[in-house]
Amino acid sequence: MIIKAATFKVSNSDHKLCPEDNKPEFAFIGRSNVGKSSLINMLTNQKSLAKTSGTPGKTQLINHFEINNEWYLVDLPGYGFAKASKKARHGWEEFIAAYLTQRKTLLNTFVLLDARLPPQNIDLEFMGWCGEKEIPFSMVFTKLDKLSSSEKQKNILSYKKEMLKQWEELPPVFATSSESKFGKEPILNYIDEILKTC
Ligand code: GTP
Ligand code: MG
Repeated sequence: MIIKAATFKVSNSDHKLCPEDNKPEFAFIGRSNVGKSSLINMLTNQKSLAKTSGTPGKTQLINHFEINNEWYLVDLPGYGFAKASKKARHGWEEFIAAYLTQRKTLLNTFVLLDARLPPQNIDLEFMGWCGEKEIPFSMVFTKLDKLSSSEKQKNILSYKKEMLKQWEELPPVFATSSESKFGKEPILNYIDEILKTC
């Protein structure tokens, strides 16, 4: 998969207002600050296509980025942002849930997980919810540059073990660092494979 063109298309908080040109799309979700927007920039080889910030809660809308005029990468707001007011938090959760369950062109959702942390309930619950709703997803560990290679192995293995308590089999698992650009090809190849089945 070669990304020749990546452009911002539209932002909104209603899946009904998302592009209607029937192009397939792939979404990125996870806790605030986990690195969703950074990963989109890394995959598309751009510095600031998606807006990033050290402060959680930067992405607040559903953002469509058109790739090669053929498909979309979708940057979503983070869940579990403790500092957002309850009302705002609930609003995000509702429109994200509506988007994930009703968007017909959404082929896969990448659930980002901070590789430095032990399995977090909010992420396990979110993936459990995806399972209930039959939303296809993959796991993407982020910020691998912050770990030693033994820590990487240990943390990812313990996460897989925790998942296998809930799941009969694991979804695809990717390890990345937007900082060092590690893990780009496997994700782009996976997207390519899915696109070929359309
Ligand atoms: P929200 O939009 O607030 O939900 O956050 P997000 O998940 O989009 O995170 P974002 O990409 O804005 O990154 C959050 C912070 O983590 C920024 O300071 C990034 O520079 C940093 N970051 C993201 N990915 C990596 C990574 O792979 N390695 C390191 N070291 N830092 C990262
Ligand atoms: Mg973001």
